[in-house]
Amino acid sequence: MNHQTVEAVLLFLCALSIWAWLIKPAIPPLQSLTRGREILHRIYRKQLRDNQVYVLRGVFGNSIVLPPSMLQWLTLQPESHLSAKAAQMDALNIPITFLRPEIGLDPVHEPLIRRNLTANLDSIAGDVWEEVGLALEDLWGQATDSWREVNLDDTVRRVVARAANRVFVGDTLCRDNDYIESSIRFVTRVSICGLLINLFPNWLKRPMGFVFKTPVQMAYSRCAKHLLPVFSDLTLTDPHLFTSWLVSNSVQYPRSSPERTPDFLSRRIMALNFAAIHTSTLTACNLLLDIFSHPPTVSLLRDESLASSARWGKTWKRARFNQMSRLDSALRESLRLWGLVPKAMSRKVMQPDGAILPDGQRLPQGTTVCISGWGLHHDEGIFPQPFEFVHDRFMRAEEEVKEQAEGVKKSAAAETNEHFVAWGIGKHACPGRFFAVDLIKIILAHVLVDYEVKFLGERPGNIWIEYNVLPPPSATLSIRRRV
Ligand code: HEM
Repeated sequence: MNHQTVEAVLLFLCALSIWAWLIKPAIPPLQSLTRGREILHRIYRKQLRDNQVYVLRGVFGNSIVLPPSMLQWLTLQPESHLSAKAAQMDALNIPITFLRPEIGLDPVHEPLIRRNLTANLDSIAGDVWEEVGLALEDLWGQATDSWREVNLDDTVRRVVARAANRVFVGDTLCRDNDYIESSIRFVTRVSICGLLINLFPNWLKRPMGFVFKTPVQMAYSRCAKHLLPVFSDLTLTDPHLFTSWLVSNSVQYPRSSPERTPDFLSRRIMALNFAAIHTSTLTACNLLLDIFSHPPTVSLLRDESLASSARWGKTWKRARFNQMSRLDSALRESLRLWGLVPKAMSRKVMQPDGAILPDGQRLPQGTTVCISGWGLHHDEGIFPQPFEFVHDRFMRAEEEVKEQAEGVKKSAAAETNEHFVAWGIGKHACPGRFFAVDLIKIILAHVLVDYEVKFLGERPGNIWIEYNVLPPPSATLSIRRRV
């Protein structure tokens, strides 16, 4: 077990025992900790019959699950009534864990993801390809004559962190081991501490928050040591780096605004790391586990990647991504099976007089609503064989692929619709999904072309922590570099 896992387990047990024995002794829903999957599935099946809302009790907080028929209505609600931001703030206690609440409350980096990052996908893909290749060589080695057992989560997390930071901060810092390790530590601590604070009643959150802030602050200080000098003269010129977009964007603020300080700009980079590293790592790990436990799928995907390499070499353009429609479908299928938000589309009721649902029920201010993303993604009526990994379930017809290869249309894996909520839907749908999809495809293309991977007899089971699902942190792959 690595030190981060130990740290996580200890913190979790410590907070849970305080909560369970001293603070909330009368509350029973500990069963949700291990049975989140069954609970979400059961609720969804009942809702298909009765179209009712259900209370979802949880150790980390309660929510109201809306039936799937209310999903469209939910996406149309204004932020002032049903707020995605407020729900995110609560779920991860961002005002406490992000150390400066403004970073979460006023996410000025988000339009830059939507605008600059997405517009530059083709210009940065070559850099991402190079960085993923170098990171894999460092972490998985280059020996062609012996097999090596690698921990999947540990190594993929570092590949993701390095490749994403190639785009966020450039090739010098993204290869600085101390910066990458500190960033991973920051992201892990924000996630764990943010969740754990929810074990405490509201009146205790602030004082306890002070305790949980300390490990986050320590990790951030270490990242800041590397980031602050990057922003020291505020004259960054590389047009393909997020640091430059942040600096250019900051000039709209008055000179005295904290948004123009190296400290705030550094914190914005850490907000990006927070949004990108954990999510992309878990998604890539799930996909690798799904693929390498299905031998026939591997050879089909490898053939596609080899053909793509033969045709395009080191060039990565939209047309190349679009032509890899088998990999695109496999990624979407893996996201359908294991999407990171089984409890999807969380929104908080903001108005003092509450929110009126389409069926006339009123929910009080402060309630959090969601839908059962797990139930929806495993609805047999929509996805036959819902628990099987059918890698080509979403594969597009050849003519459609050809049409897209000539145009600029983005990958189908990144599309959102009322049957697919792994990215959310509507105006809060993940703005980083186009980048995440490209990054994960590039990782897979490298693995399929450059490495031999021994098949997993059976796919290692994912673990559930209440209504969160993740690939087993101890899963390993046996790999060998191809000659
Ligand atoms: C496979 C990787 C990823 C997954 C599965 C994922 C998933 C999600 C989901 C489910 C949401 C919430 C949507 C909602 O509540 O409606 C979200 C929001 C968000 N994601 Fe991602 N994400 C990923 C990668 C990224 C990356 C790489 C970035 C940044 C570069 C990013 C930035 C964001 C931001 C800023 C939000 C908040 C959007 C808002 O509230 O308007 N994500 N993501």
